[in-house]
Amino acid sequence: MRYACAMAIVITWSTVYGSSRAYAQALAGKLGLEAHPISRAGLSDGDILIHFGGLYAGGLCGLKDFIRLASSKGVTPVIATVGLADPAKPRNREKIEEDVSKHLPHGLAGKVRFFHFRGAMDYKKLSIRHRAMMWALVVMLKKNDPASLSDEDKSLIATHGQKIDFIDFNTLDGLASWAREQL
Ligand SMILES: Cc1cc2nc3c(=O)[nH]c(=O)nc-3n(C[C@H](O)[C@H](O)[C@H](O)COP(=O)(O)O)c2cc1C
Repeated sequence: MRYACAMAIVITWSTVYGSSRAYAQALAGKLGLEAHPISRAGLSDGDILIHFGGLYAGGLCGLKDFIRLASSKGVTPVIATVGLADPAKPRNREKIEEDVSKHLPHGLAGKVRFFHFRGAMDYKKLSIRHRAMMWALVVMLKKNDPASLSDEDKSLIATHGQKIDFIDFNTLDGLASWAREQL
C-alpha cells in the first residue's frame, strides 16, 4: 500500500507496548503527516523513511521490514529508537547504534541516521516472557558489586516491578527540524 508521493517523508512504527507508536504519531502530528505500522508502509525512490522501533535486548522492533524498505533505491533511512536507556548519555547512544547496526546489511549500516528517544514500561502489562527477561536481568545485576553498577543498572533494580514512563514528545523537536530541512 502507498501512503505518500515521491520525495515524501514516510513515518513508520513497530511496537510491543505502544511507546514507539506514540512517538511516531506525535512526530507525524508535528509535521502534518500520518504514521503507519511498518508492515503496511510503502516507499518510492527518494523518499525519507523515519522508523520508530522499541528496543528489546539490543534489537529493534520492525528491523526486518525497515531493511526491506530502506534498501529501495535512493531512500534516506532514519531509525528512531525507543528504549529505557537514557540517550542523553553518549555511551548509551553508541551502544544502541552499535547493537542495531550489527543487524543491518553492509551497504545500509553506514547510511542510516539515528535518533534516540526514551520510552516506558509497565511491569503489570509485560508478557510473561518479557517479565521473566527483566527478572533475570535484575537478578544478574544484584549479584554484582553495587559499586560496579551504573546509574541505569541501579535504577533498573530500584524500579523493578513498577511503572516507568520517560516519554517526552518535546524530545522530538530535533528530529522534526531535521525532517523539515530535508523537504
Ligand atoms: C525484555 C525487555 C528488554 C528490553 N531491552 C531494552 C534494551 O536493550 N535497551 C533499552 O533501552 N530498553 C530496553 N527495554 C525497554 C523498552 O525498549 C521500552 O519499554 C520501550 O518503551 C518499548 O517500546 P515499545 O513500547 O514501542 O514496544 C526492554 C524492555 C523489555 C521488556
